[in-house]
Amino acid sequence: MSSIVLDKLTKQYAGAAAIQDVSFTVPAGSFTVLLGPSGCGKSTTLRMIAGLDTPTSGTIRIGDRDVTNLPPAQRRISMVFQSYALFPHLSVRENILFGLKVRKEPARDYDRRLQRVATLLGLTHLLDRKPAQLSGGQQQRVALGRAVISEAPVCLMDEPLSNLDAQLRHEMRREIRALQQSLGITMVYVTHDQTEAMSMADQVVLLRGGRIEQLDTPDGLYARPASEFAARFIGTPPMNLISLAPKDGAMAVAGAPGAVIDGAPAQASKLGVRPEHIRIDGSGIAATVESVEYFGADSIVVCRVGDSAGVAVRVGGHLRAQPGENLRLAWPAGQQHFFAADSAVIDTNGR
Ligand SMILES: Nc1ncnc2c1ncn2[C@@H]1O[C@H](COP(=O)(O)OP(=O)(O)OP(=O)(O)O)[C@@H](O)[C@H]1O
Ligand SMILES: [Mg+2]
Repeated sequence: MSSIVLDKLTKQYAGAAAIQDVSFTVPAGSFTVLLGPSGCGKSTTLRMIAGLDTPTSGTIRIGDRDVTNLPPAQRRISMVFQSYALFPHLSVRENILFGLKVRKEPARDYDRRLQRVATLLGLTHLLDRKPAQLSGGQQQRVALGRAVISEAPVCLMDEPLSNLDAQLRHEMRREIRALQQSLGITMVYVTHDQTEAMSMADQVVLLRGGRIEQLDTPDGLYARPASEFAARFIGTPPMNLISLAPKDGAMAVAGAPGAVIDGAPAQASKLGVRPEHIRIDGSGIAATVESVEYFGADSIVVCRVGDSAGVAVRVGGHLRAQPGENLRLAWPAGQQHFFAADSAVIDTNGR
């Protein structure tokens, strides 16, 4: 099995750094997601692991080899990209086998390997079709099959599901994760979709402006965000940030001096609390309803709390509240996160 180690990787393009000083390890057989907003350096990082781009400085190891200067073909990796570009004139069978033929792998193995991959991906009945006769999800599975049949120990995927509708994306997420686990593949997967990252990853590398913002498990990112950026990137809706102001030696909600926040450190400038941890509670802090969105199983009530607008509260069922209505909100002290003026999290007990 092959782990991947990136050490102080930097890629400079005409003056600007696409990524800077990026170091992390992808343990062998694990699923690591590169997550972050558009332009943060996800594809650049992946392309350097693949060997499609050379780093300006830093090294990449796969297994026990330094691959920094090796061409892609010698890295024993497979790749699936957003535009999965199947050959339109070749059948599904020929598309999947294409790489093996190019690499002149022994023809006697083709059938066995093809059957295994086709069974795994549910493509057995489609092998004689051309790509144009397949649905988007089926085409995506052929692209996956092309990667899986190579039996490379490392697989790199760059937003492979972005062309699919929500339901197919959901199914394919599960299939990719199951495939990776059953074959023990070391996976690096790029996405800007936090739901994808949370549901698939063993480890998430959250990138921002070419640097690592936080490297953590999905649980860790959700429960212990390192910064306001990380707090706001995870969760739907994301974590609320409520401005604080000092009041008589304590900290209170800015614009609502009566609403003292127990446990808030003096250097806290914002309180973070997730919508799902807030409840409507007559003994809580005063809030005014701004809007209500109903989703079937639950509603998101958006409120103003002191000076902070847009505070989202998730409540079960259909809350029938009118804009302008007054509510009171409460949350467990253990679910409070505090951020300093520079947006970094402040470590407090119970967090
Ligand atoms: N060939 C290039 N020349 C100059 N700048 C580049 C080049 N490729 C990428 N960049 C810049 O590097 C930064 C990172 O790009 P990258 O493609 O890695 O982003 P990304 O995280 O994959 O974004 P997206 O989610 O939009 O795909 C961007 O600011 C981009 O403009
Ligand atoms: Mg990209």
